[in-house]
Amino acid sequence: MPLLALALIVIGAVGLIVVGILNRPQIGSNGEQIYFTATSQRGTPIFSDMGMGIMGGGMIACATCHGPDGRGGRVQMMMRSFVAPDIRYKTLTSEMMGQAEGEGHPPYTDETIKRAITQGVDPAGKPLEWPMPRWTMSTEDLDDLVAFLKTLN
Ligand code: HEC
Repeated sequence: MPLLALALIVIGAVGLIVVGILNRPQIGSNGEQIYFTATSQRGTPIFSDMGMGIMGGGMIACATCHGPDGRGGRVQMMMRSFVAPDIRYKTLTSEMMGQAEGEGHPPYTDETIKRAITQGVDPAGKPLEWPMPRWTMSTEDLDDLVAFLKTLN
């Protein structure tokens, strides 16, 4: 084979590999990874009372219900349909929170957001409804997750 042709094939192959690496879905912060995949870059376990739910080929994570942008919306799951709320930090902590929905609870804080995630209660201590899971994760992972919610606009 002429040397030039061989060189072009090698260059082409290297190019494809580089493009493949650049096109890999980019997960940045640990909080973002938890939000989208329910796995931690620390390797610490994360699970919910929904179990290790493998649904439609993927793990159940926050994004499954609350959407990739945290704005929530209607979700079809287990032959039921429900609306997942907007959980962007700025929405949860706004003065309107709880009043607009007539739920009668104060706005969320970092602490009550974490409690909602792990214990499934709103700031007034009222249980959140099915299907919001109760999550178990390390305090560091919980911090990272809340930090990620703050980045959602
Ligand atoms: C299977 C679907 C589902 C998954 C997965 C899920 N949620 Fe929820 N979540 C809900 C629903 C539905 C509600 C509303 C419950 C209610 O109104 O009582 C909710 C409520 C919440 C609330 C309280 C919002 C409010 O308006 O009071 C927070 C905070 C929250 N979820 C965060 C998370 C985080 C963070 C994750 C990932 C670790 C997650 N959720 C995963 C369905 C889900």
